[in-house]
Amino acid sequence: MTTEYIHGSDPTEQARLARMNDRLNAGTLSVLNLAPGMRVLDAGSGLGQVARAIARAAPGIAVIGVERDDQQRRGAMELAQAAGEGGLVEFRAGDALDLPLTDDERGSFDLVHARFLLEHLPDPLAAVRAMAGAVRPGGRVHLADDDHALWHMHPACPEWDRTWSAYQRSYEVLGCDPRIGSKLPELLHRAGLEPARSGLVNFGGCRGEAMWDDLIVNMVEAARTGRRIATERGVLSEAEYDAGLNAAREWAETPGASIWYPVCWAEGVKP
Ligand SMILES: C[S@@+](CC[C@H](N)C(=O)[O-])C[C@H]1O[C@@H](n2cnc3c(N)ncnc32)[C@H](O)[C@@H]1O
Repeated sequence: MTTEYIHGSDPTEQARLARMNDRLNAGTLSVLNLAPGMRVLDAGSGLGQVARAIARAAPGIAVIGVERDDQQRRGAMELAQAAGEGGLVEFRAGDALDLPLTDDERGSFDLVHARFLLEHLPDPLAAVRAMAGAVRPGGRVHLADDDHALWHMHPACPEWDRTWSAYQRSYEVLGCDPRIGSKLPELLHRAGLEPARSGLVNFGGCRGEAMWDDLIVNMVEAARTGRRIATERGVLSEAEYDAGLNAAREWAETPGASIWYPVCWAEGVKP
């Protein structure tokens, strides 16, 4: 089944996701326990920044990124070329539910990683099972995803909260789970892996930090991607949805304003 990808893949959206990547990758890498010579598969590799960051993290790490959307995959290769890293990662076309691997590759990876993939899939367990099939015995599957309900801002902004709830509903309308992040250890277990670690990477911040404006744009533009689906399905009117987006921009000027936005991660070991 092909599901509409909620973030789309137009250039503006790609640039936003690239900025988000730069901000998040340090936190992601700090919990991946990468070592020289590892063989890594990155499922749903998108624009490839985290796949390239993994490859750069230690000598001799070989990374294959698997991406279903050709525009995203082409974008990943262009960004890699522009950064002088054209050969660093192999970006392979394919579906995370049916990984495009040879018989030799299947069951051979030290680490299979997927970030912000499962929230876009109606059957995330099928993807985790496919990842479990790709990793070697004793290897790890590392998942990172949002639980949008853990998102919190202070002081409160009720108009934004209403739009954020509608954004979450847009995931459900597509058959996806906006709270998948909290369920990662359970998914690992159900896929036959042994959950071993879990935690949070901070994607929040407070007014006064250098990237505050960028963080606000990221959050507003992320919520905007759910606007069409949420308003067409009558979750909120367009005016109500937009009132939340506008309120967030005004709220961002509040002295002492802060956003608490943890990204959930969990890791399972293949017996
Ligand atoms: C939000 S992006 C995350 C990209 C990257 N993992 C990161 O953390 O920066 C999700 C990516 O998963 C891709 N994707 C969605 N469903 C997929 C599937 N079934 N198989 C492979 N890729 C998929 C999308 O096209 C998109 O590029």
